[in-house]
Amino acid sequence: MYYSLVRKALFRLDPERAHDFTFRQLKRLSHSPFQFLIQQSLPSKPVSCMGLSFKNPLGLAAGLDKNGDCIDALGAMGFGFIEVGTVTPRPQVGNDKPRLFRLVEAEGLINRMGFNNLGVDNLIENVKQSRYGGVLGINIGKNKDTPVEQGKDDYLICMEKVYAHAGYIAINISSPNTPGLRTLQYGEALDDLLSAIKNKQLELQGKYQKYVPVAVKIAPDLTHEELIQVADSLVRHHIDGVIATNTTLDKSLVSGLDHCNEAGGLSGRPVQSKSTQIIRQLNEELKGALPIIGVGGIDSLTAAREKMDAGASLIQVYSGFIYQGPALIKSIINHI
Ligand SMILES: Cc1cc2nc3c(=O)[nH]c(=O)nc-3n(C[C@H](O)[C@H](O)[C@H](O)COP(=O)(O)O)c2cc1C
Repeated sequence: MYYSLVRKALFRLDPERAHDFTFRQLKRLSHSPFQFLIQQSLPSKPVSCMGLSFKNPLGLAAGLDKNGDCIDALGAMGFGFIEVGTVTPRPQVGNDKPRLFRLVEAEGLINRMGFNNLGVDNLIENVKQSRYGGVLGINIGKNKDTPVEQGKDDYLICMEKVYAHAGYIAINISSPNTPGLRTLQYGEALDDLLSAIKNKQLELQGKYQKYVPVAVKIAPDLTHEELIQVADSLVRHHIDGVIATNTTLDKSLVSGLDHCNEAGGLSGRPVQSKSTQIIRQLNEELKGALPIIGVGGIDSLTAAREKMDAGASLIQVYSGFIYQGPALIKSIINHI
């Protein structure tokens, strides 16, 4: 009820302005006596995954809080975990605006943000200042101007910097908005990257005397064959988890709607069944070798259950949260 009014006002604004405005208000609220306005007390539904304890299985997906500006406010809403980022070694502005579009009839979004972020050092400062006690995932990527052949170096730089501060580290090789990034999901390039990441993780485990799990985030646009190869590679390199999925490039799911031909990745309800299918296939391939974090179009308790029935141990939301607000968290956690 309350969010439907807020949404009405926010949806009058350009989507990115609405995001920035909301974040400014949330940041203010979370450090004020009015924090109770965003606080939701939800039942505890504990889950163990990747060696970590989550107070419930529903997390916030990467990309909403790229710089870790609102960790406390988002935590207060009851998420079981929060994934910040994608963050890159150096700050970058991202693609030209407009770069975020609502497809309201379909409860979808198309974005081509292009990893706009203030850099990994800024993110770490924000993480240090946050009081959030839940699991914090830090999602890392490569700068646009780093050639893809040297992309590995960017992931290793970010790992070094975030390791001590992360509950888990998410490796984003599936954004469609950084040219060439998705090629890291295939064959030798993937093996080479995962091998370097595993070595770095073990080195940092020795240095910090703590094991921080690593999860790899994949696209929903992989063919069955490609998915089998990705699964095989994740298992061989002892990766701790897989996040499925990122946004899709398949616009046939929204053909005829306003903005349907905008370049970028499509998310929200239109990607729901595609993501679930990838999770189901992954689950068949992985046979429990590593856990799946399911994301893509979760907009209800039913959609959340579908992801878990398909094999996800944890789930995340982004677009559904934009359309439905904090009540979505409540309705899922209360009954899952
Ligand atoms: C505006 C926007 C920005 C995003 N940015 C990122 C990002 O920086 N890193 C990432 O791994 N995923 C990013 N995503 C993808 C989401 O984390 C999620 O995987 C995808 O949107 C599917 O979930 P949903 O249907 O619940 O939105 C972004 C999604 C949106 C809509």
